[in-house]
Amino acid sequence: MTNPPYGLLAEVTHQCPLHCLYCSNPVELRAREEELDTADWVRVIREAADLGVVQVHFSGGEPLVRGDLEELVAEAAGLDLYTNLITSGLGLTEVRAKGLVAAGLDSAQLSVQGDTPESTERIADSKRFDKKPLAARIIRDAGLPLNMNVVLHRLNLDRLDAIIDLCDAWGAERLELANTQYYGWGLRNRDLLLPSREQLAGAEAVYRRRKEELASRMELLWILPDYYESYPKPCMGGWAQSAFTVAPDGMVYPCPVAADIDSLSFPSVRSSSLAWIWEEAPAFQAFRGTDWMPDPCRSCDRREIDFGGCRCQAFALTGDAARTDPVCVYSPDHDLIRTAVERANSDAPAPEPAYRGRGRPPG
Ligand code: SF4
Ligand code: FES
Repeated sequence: MTNPPYGLLAEVTHQCPLHCLYCSNPVELRAREEELDTADWVRVIREAADLGVVQVHFSGGEPLVRGDLEELVAEAAGLDLYTNLITSGLGLTEVRAKGLVAAGLDSAQLSVQGDTPESTERIADSKRFDKKPLAARIIRDAGLPLNMNVVLHRLNLDRLDAIIDLCDAWGAERLELANTQYYGWGLRNRDLLLPSREQLAGAEAVYRRRKEELASRMELLWILPDYYESYPKPCMGGWAQSAFTVAPDGMVYPCPVAADIDSLSFPSVRSSSLAWIWEEAPAFQAFRGTDWMPDPCRSCDRREIDFGGCRCQAFALTGDAARTDPVCVYSPDHDLIRTAVERANSDAPAPEPAYRGRGRPPG
């Protein structure tokens, strides 16, 4: 008997005003013409609620690009689901924030890429840093708690103190410091973004100091940089264990970046029910539990702790989603990680940034 899923990540669009170097969305994005329409999304949300989902995270791309977001939030809230908006803040106006809150939005998470217009432009290929404080104010004025997120890497780790100051000044109650995971587009920029050991240690010390200092008003969370760990993360709490993603075109995946695993045939809400997908679709069964595991995971004491790591990372680095995550020190492919880490700690020149849609840096 399969446990019911807890969360739905509704990627309502891949359209986005930012072009972040670390973007974990697939290299090939879904076009606007391929997106599910409002009625399709309403059906998806209803089926998700019937299946046992209790949280819906509206994401993308930038979900505010969709003019029907308020309608989708209202549908989810009407079914008593917890609703969260994951946004760059670009496109957020007072009118839209009021509309979303009236529709029942429970929380919003605002991303920030750097602490200055220049660093934001370099990381996200965007000249609209000024919209970030505005979005933060609008979220707070709408009565929502301000949750923020920053993806950390070689280009901004040294600015962690300043980034935390900024989020504090904007009134953040929670700040997620997410060390980059190298998937999708972001894997192309890995050698540019992977920090050195020393840089990472400095930033972690900043995190620990500021976490204590700010404890009374802001919660700081540190998401581990897995390339520097000995064991992999228990990605998604295990394959198809507690959440799933519906992509803009209706394809359904056990996690947000599984679309790149071309050895699996993923189902679509256009042709199958969510109940069948969750309980029976072969792609969802493929890595559930521990029966699929190869050696060394099969006989390892940690197999119920990390589930062999991340299937997407195994596929991205080895071409085989059924291999042990190369992050693991026991993995026969661990050299793939060791080589990248050695390069990040050497004098090798930084490669040029690769932005979606073009190959050169701004300016
Ligand atoms: Fe985890 Fe597999 Fe490594 Fe054991 S061998 S620590 S189960 S990834
Ligand atoms: Fe897909 Fe880890 S990101 S399983």
